[in-house]
Amino acid sequence: MTKTKFNIGDRVKAIKGSQMGNIGTIEKVLPGINTNTEAEYQVGFPTTPYGMTLPESSIQKVSKGDSTVYTTESVKRRGAISTAFTEAEYLTEAHTGGTIKTVTHNDVTGKHFAGWFFKMDDWANITPSQFPLSLITHDDEIAVYGYFNGDKLDGIIRVDDYDDSYELSFFFVNKALQHQGIGQQLFQSVLNRYKDKKLILYVYKDNSPAIHIYKKYGFKITGTDYGRGYKPQSPHYIMQRDVNRGV
Ligand SMILES: CC(C)(COP(=O)(O)OP(=O)(O)OC[C@H]1O[C@@H](n2cnc3c(N)ncnc32)[C@H](O)[C@@H]1OP(=O)(O)O)[C@@H](O)C(=O)NCCC(=O)NCCS
Repeated sequence: MTKTKFNIGDRVKAIKGSQMGNIGTIEKVLPGINTNTEAEYQVGFPTTPYGMTLPESSIQKVSKGDSTVYTTESVKRRGAISTAFTEAEYLTEAHTGGTIKTVTHNDVTGKHFAGWFFKMDDWANITPSQFPLSLITHDDEIAVYGYFNGDKLDGIIRVDDYDDSYELSFFFVNKALQHQGIGQQLFQSVLNRYKDKKLILYVYKDNSPAIHIYKKYGFKITGTDYGRGYKPQSPHYIMQRDVNRGV
């Protein structure tokens, strides 16, 4: 669906141009040069076409009435901001309407969450009562963020603070709502929160959808290992995002 008016916080997906496939957030709404026919939206995207973290934003100009978008990108590379002009035809909406916030004990004990989380393949061999919910509850020691549709918790991700890096884990989206961009919104919000931090994660080698997302957002495979999680015999990749890597 095409939309020509956006509000701050709306999630949009570039379907053409250098940001194609990436989901961004409307950060600012500005009048266009011709305010009657145009509006400008500042959209924050997580990566540049070069696979770098993008701390700056792209300006998307949306002509009201049709959905043509011309894109000016401010790309920060090694501290210097360069501007590139690309063209995108229009933006489409990703799954919108959700909110990302920290996950409380009540959220994870709620019926809605239990209704999908404990049906995930990873928990096939354990019952909900065996699962320590403190592992996925935000507190002083660990950060846990959730994607909420109203008060329904439909996505979750955990961040552990180690001395020299942060580890991402427990990344899950309600199966009924997968493939609509929720996972990427959640993942991207964590990347934004931990912009200049070294991030690490472990993923089973056969988990193509997750690996696809991690690579898309600038993570690289840095090693392989065994022995983590609930499938200790399954080999997994170690992936890291290096914020200091060059172009
Ligand atoms: C990983 C997970 C959180 C993603 O959530 P989601 O809401 O479905 O993710 P999104 O809709 O934002 O994105 C899915 C992406 O994977 C891609 N994808 C889907 N199936 C794929 C496959 N088999 N191979 C490669 N990519 C695939 C989609 O095309 C999409 O990318 P695109 O937007 O570039 O096209 C969800 O699949 C999940 O809960 N999986 C089970 C738990 C898990 O494995 N967690 C990761 C542990 S490390």
